Amino acid sequence: MKALKVKEILIDKENIARRIDQLVDEIATSSTDNLIIIGILKGSFIFLADLMRSLHRHQIHPRIDFLTLSSYGNETVSSKKITIVHDIRDDIKGADILLVDDILDSGHTLDFTKKLFLKRGARSVQTCVLLEKKARRAVQFEADYVGFSIDDHFVVGYGLDYANLYRELPHIAKLNLSD
Ligand code: IMP
Ligand code: MG
Repeated sequence: MKALKVKEILIDKENIARRIDQLVDEIATSSTDNLIIIGILKGSFIFLADLMRSLHRHQIHPRIDFLTLSSYGNETVSSKKITIVHDIRDDIKGADILLVDDILDSGHTLDFTKKLFLKRGARSVQTCVLLEKKARRAVQFEADYVGFSIDDHFVVGYGLDYANLYRELPHIAKLNLSD
């Protein structure tokens, strides 16, 4: 069994749940009946599931799809080169897309994906992230819905990983890489 490198809890599960309901209340005000929620895998899967459950309170019935993009590998620094590992299945022409990711860091991932879906004919593309690290933006990009802005720590849990580990944590924790 590997030693857990996770250190302090940054955002606990109660705070995450509360913030998700607030985000969904905001999302619901500009939602249309041609909404497709697209999660960027793997990091977004837990966040997206909780967003979906919360949307139920507003009687919104979105379609859902997933896009798998190339990831960091085992590094904790961002890569500019993004490749599609597994594409969406739905026809998005004329649809209003809500793109969901776990964290907005350099901005390359969401910038690339938003442009891709607009080019493919989506009517609109909005973006929603649980976390953002403002200090690390390499391209100009702002998400439409942001759960929490955090300082420049590498974090794991609630879907976020380090080397594909720790996604199962119910909270967001800082990773202690020096252990
Ligand atoms: P960006 O393209 O640099 O904005 O990177 C976004 C992607 O980097 C996210 O989808 C995450 O998978 C990953 N990422 C960035 N920061 C962290 C972190 O602190 N922990 C885990 N994954 C991260
Ligand atoms: Mg990711």
